[in-house]
Order: sequence, then C-alpha cells, then structure tokens
Amino acid sequence: MDDRTGTTAYKSDSNTIEIEPSASSLSFEQEQFMKDVQQGLTNSPKSLPCKYFYDQRGSELFEQICQLDEYYITRTELALLNKINTELAQMIGPQATIIEPGAGAGIKIQALLNSLDSPHSYVPMDISKDFLFYSANIIQSKFPDIQIMPIQGDFTHPVEWQGREKHHNRIVFFPGSTIGNFDKQSAIEFLNSMRSLVGSTGALIIGADLLKERYILESAYDDSKGVTAAFNKNILARINSELGGNFNLDNFSHRARLNQREQRIEMHLLSKIEQTVSIGSHRFSFASGESIHTENSHKYTIDSFLQMASAAGFRALKTWTDEDELFSVHYLVQNE
Ligand SMILES: C[S@@+](CC[C@H](N)C(=O)[O-])C[C@H]1O[C@@H](n2cnc3c(N)ncnc32)[C@H](O)[C@@H]1O
Repeated sequence: MDDRTGTTAYKSDSNTIEIEPSASSLSFEQEQFMKDVQQGLTNSPKSLPCKYFYDQRGSELFEQICQLDEYYITRTELALLNKINTELAQMIGPQATIIEPGAGAGIKIQALLNSLDSPHSYVPMDISKDFLFYSANIIQSKFPDIQIMPIQGDFTHPVEWQGREKHHNRIVFFPGSTIGNFDKQSAIEFLNSMRSLVGSTGALIIGADLLKERYILESAYDDSKGVTAAFNKNILARINSELGGNFNLDNFSHRARLNQREQRIEMHLLSKIEQTVSIGSHRFSFASGESIHTENSHKYTIDSFLQMASAAGFRALKTWTDEDELFSVHYLVQNE
C-alpha cells in the first residue's frame, strides 16, 4: 500500500506491476470520487464534476488565477464589496453568523467582518480540506474575537448545514460567481436550500458574473500564462494520484469557449491523440480531439439572475454592479 496515493500494487497477467486502488484503501470521499469519475467518463459526451478541481494544489492554482490580469472577476467583485461593505453591514445588523459555502482563501469576507457590528461567528465551508483549515486559522488570528467554525464538506449536501447557529441572524455569503458552476435547475435547488438556511430573518449575499463580450470571457478562462490550463488538468492529476489513474497530462489540452446559446463559459480537456487511459482496473478510450467537459460558468443579466433567484423564493433588497457592469452583487431575502 502506497500511503501517499492510497493505492495498492498488484501483478497483472502481463507481468507488469500496475496500481489498483483497493476498495478498502479508498476513503469514503475517494470512493465517491471514483464513482463520479467512472460515471463521467462513461457518459457521452464525457464529463467530470468541477468540484474535483479542488485539492490543496487546485485551491492554490485557483488563488493564482484570481491574481491574473485576464481574470477580472476577483478584483472587480472585491472592489465592489469594498465600496458597499458599510452599507452591507447596516443591512445585516448586529450579532450575525456569516456562513460562506466555497470559502476558498476567505479574502472577500475579511473586509465585511471588519465592517460588521459585533459579528457572532463566521462559518467557512469548503470541499478543499487542508486549504480550508489553513485559511480559517489565518482568519482566526486576524479576528480573535469572532468564533471561526470551519466545516469541510460538499455544499450541495444541505444536511451539513442543519442545526448551525439556529438562534442568530444567519447570513450566507456566496461570492466568486460560484453559483455560475451550477446548471439552472441545480442553481435553483441550491438557492432554495440557502433560503431555508437563512430563514425569514437572514439574507443571502451573492456575487454573479454578468454576460459580456466573448473575448473578455474567453481570455478570463484561458490566460496567457497557462494557469487556468494547469487548474483544469489538476482534475486528471488528482485521478492519477488518488485513484490510480495513468493520464498523461501532456496528451490533453485545455479549451475554454463561450457557449452563447447556454450563456456560459465551458471548460474542456481535449484528447490530443487517440488513447486509452487506465484508472485502476478500468479502461477509458479517447478519440483524437474528444473532449472531457470539466466546468460550466454561467453568465447572467441582472434580470435573468433575479428571475432565477425568484424561482428559489428570494427577492433582491438591493443589487449593485461596478461602473463597467462586469459583475453584480445581490442582497437577497426570502419572499413574503
Ligand atoms: C470559484 S472558487 C471561489 C472561491 C471564493 N469564494 C472566491 O470568491 O474567490 C469556488 C470555491 O468553492 C469550493 N467548492 C467547489 N465545489 C464545492 C462543493 N461542491 N462543496 C464545497 N466547496 C466547493 C472550491 O474549493 C473553491 O474554494
């Protein structure tokens, strides 16, 4: 057993040593990862869930993406939040518990925590465990008087949230346009679960990216330094190290394209050659040029976003955009 990869060596018929992850050597999360990978690579067209980009390396690569010139999203949203933080703090009121699904490095929350009137607690939640706890420690050291209570898990599983801080003013903070990764129906279901979480006294503060010219969008997801390409390929690197795969990352290329009809950026990994890849005892064939669809990032107009929020039982108390109308932030409360 290789402790680092969670895999077990065995001898195959051809007398070559191969690596097979044994069922018992996979953690519960890796078993789910294996199931999702098998399902996704058996589908036609092939796809993989984007949540698997994010291990420690994936989270670090995402933070590098946030610094790129082409990736206007982070700096635009951060500037907008800095402008409206005092107003947000007034709307939120005292003693709030702020819950942040997909918190990542937790950069955007910090200015808000500084502006709030005696916040009760901050609950960052993320799938990327080590990165989450590292970031939570940094935030705790900067805000010693606020309870910081990180939760590792999948934000699409609402049970993780039950029972959290029922007696406080609950605010869900969901920046970064992470909502864009959901298709419309799943976005409504997710928003609906967030509405139950905040109840009739809380609110959802959410960042949504706006539809804009193709070249701005495509460069944001296909930067000149190749960081987004490395981020996209990290999903294959994880399959190799955690599930015993043998993807050759150089045999795949990164592609990001605007799908105008669906109003979303799609990220794909294209097989450069005809090839067969093994994951444990499973084999997956790729034609030359065949794609694995790895991520959608939906883009909205203010109206299309608010219609979606309304379908989940929310209404906007206020919506803000930057001067160039690149990005939007919404303060949503439950419909009466
Ligand atoms: C687009 S990044 C946004 C990060 C940060 N909120 C920001 O605004 O910069 C998405 C974040 O959500 C996390 N994430 C993605 N899918 C998730 C899931 N299903 N459950 C929990 N966290 C998830 C990732 O690890 C990552 O930190």
